[in-house]
Amino acid sequence: CGIVGYVGAQQPSGRPLEVAMGGLARLEYRGYDSAGVAVVTLGGADLATAKKAGKLANLTALLEAEPLPEGTASIGHTRWATHGAPNDVNAHPHLSEDGRLAVIHNGIVENFVQLRAELEGAGVVLVSETDTEVVAHLVGAAYRATGDLTESLRTVAQRLEGTFTLLAVHADVPDTVVGARHDSPLVVGLGEGENFLGSDVAAFIAHTREAMELGQDQVVTLTPGSVSVIGFDGVVVEPRRFTVDWDAAAAEKGGFASFMDKEIHDQPQAVADTLLGRTDLEGRLVLDDLRVDEAVLRQVDKIIVVACGTAAYAGQVAKYAIEHWCRIPVEVELAHEFRYRDPVVDAKTLVVAVSQSGETMDTLMAVRHAREQGATVLAIVNTHGSTIPRESDAVLYTHAGPEVAVASTKAFLAQITASYLLGLYLAQLRGTKFPDEIAESFAALRAIPEKIQQVLDAAEQVRETARSMAEATSVLFLGRHVGFPVAMEGALKLKELAYIHAEGFAAGELKHGPIALIEEGQPVFVVVPSPRGRHSLHSKVISNIQEIRARGARTLVIAEEGDEAVLPFADEVFFVPQTPVLLAPLVSVVPLQIFACELATAKGLDVDQPRNLAKSVTVE
Ligand code: G6P
Repeated sequence: CGIVGYVGAQQPSGRPLEVAMGGLARLEYRGYDSAGVAVVTLGGADLATAKKAGKLANLTALLEAEPLPEGTASIGHTRWATHGAPNDVNAHPHLSEDGRLAVIHNGIVENFVQLRAELEGAGVVLVSETDTEVVAHLVGAAYRATGDLTESLRTVAQRLEGTFTLLAVHADVPDTVVGARHDSPLVVGLGEGENFLGSDVAAFIAHTREAMELGQDQVVTLTPGSVSVIGFDGVVVEPRRFTVDWDAAAAEKGGFASFMDKEIHDQPQAVADTLLGRTDLEGRLVLDDLRVDEAVLRQVDKIIVVACGTAAYAGQVAKYAIEHWCRIPVEVELAHEFRYRDPVVDAKTLVVAVSQSGETMDTLMAVRHAREQGATVLAIVNTHGSTIPRESDAVLYTHAGPEVAVASTKAFLAQITASYLLGLYLAQLRGTKFPDEIAESFAALRAIPEKIQQVLDAAEQVRETARSMAEATSVLFLGRHVGFPVAMEGALKLKELAYIHAEGFAAGELKHGPIALIEEGQPVFVVVPSPRGRHSLHSKVISNIQEIRARGARTLVIAEEGDEAVLPFADEVFFVPQTPVLLAPLVSVVPLQIFACELATAKGLDVDQPRNLAKSVTVE
């Protein structure tokens, strides 16, 4: 879910509502099952709320038809449903019994059944099925008893189990917004005579770049001129300030039809920015945001990459590169599986957590588990001020800029780029590659943005194919070596965006089962490795293409420029620039992203906000 809070107007005005709605528009990628706002109205006499099922546009329409009065503070919420169907009643905010307090919530209150029974036993009538409404009633009752909003939220927060970010406003204190955080994201934006809260900095980036991190189990109280933070134990905390280096324009569509289209086109920049400033005058790699002792990295004897979704495919690519360059065994594990299989982890294990948002709960839990077992945890993350880097020993930031479309594109390329940097850096540190070999690989990386641009410039061919396939019901993707995770990612993009059944396979595995799926006309993308290089798998993949073609498949081939050998077996070829084998995913995945985006658009679907998904899933 996305959360925004605002306090600032000295006189009631339209600004609280405007800030809340603007913030929600930027946070909508975090969930779009329903949306709602609450405004503390004129002189604090009252509280006005509006909420609506469906995307934010529905709430905007409601507010146009039935405007809210002016106010001094606001909270806003965009929901990814956990408890209760995504309808108007279950949408946030939820109110206390007297209707004077409003609460919004991200996360899950696990003991809500007991708390609900307790309230019902006391005669409280609950109108929704949500865990959040229970919290509203509890905080409302605590406030009636104490008259102190911060204290009420703090005492209730201590009783809650599960994960939550909670924001509350009360009609009696029109110059205050309070928030509580436990295992769920919340950051503060610092303005002049006004202050902000958001699930991430995108919520307030249009207003300020000055921000403050909150830690776990903290309660924050915002007034127009102050921000104070205490722990759940009541002890005052001094939060860390930081400046956001994204500009607001980066979070706009900038003339593209969708954020996804824009973000696909941002990819040359995302890779270039992630590489920027990573070498010293002698050309040696320096990863100075890493903040981890070199001695620790020297003694690492195993790496485990933990991640979910697209980030996990970036991890698969990392495995090939890091093992090759560093001769350290690398495992890649879905973060939600890792912790529960009792993994073998010790002080010599480096766990690499890859996450665009830095908030994915499954990944965060894996990070915590790894650290408990004594491993060193290095985070590859895109979002500053997020939780995973905060809880890791080391961090390597990707510089992809804000990614708004729910399905990941430029963050994926930036994650792969950062993984290569990490691999080359470890090779340099541990002496597993000669300095000139490392310099050569780094130079090849520097040439990648230009090659991605060439793929983008030639995208019309793949677009046309995509449009012609709007009726497809199943598409398969094959790849080998680093092309295998590329095939998996190509299939994932198509599922996410176009709701088409798609599967990625290792091309070599085909003959062991999946080949039974091939029938006349079945479209199959094949990511063909470069024919260059001593151990090229090129001829093996060509054989795989022949095998499926013989059985009627329609072959859509991604191959390197100049690779004439694919022509006789391809119904269509999409050429990409020549690239060293290990780095090839950075160019070969791009046509697959464009294919999925264009096909979904041709089907009339919303590519930025696919059904049922959320960009950062902050529940387990
Ligand atoms: C969600 C998103 C995916 C994303 C995954 C991991 O499921 O819908 O697009 O790949 O989370 O997100 P992260 O922020 O950890 O990279």
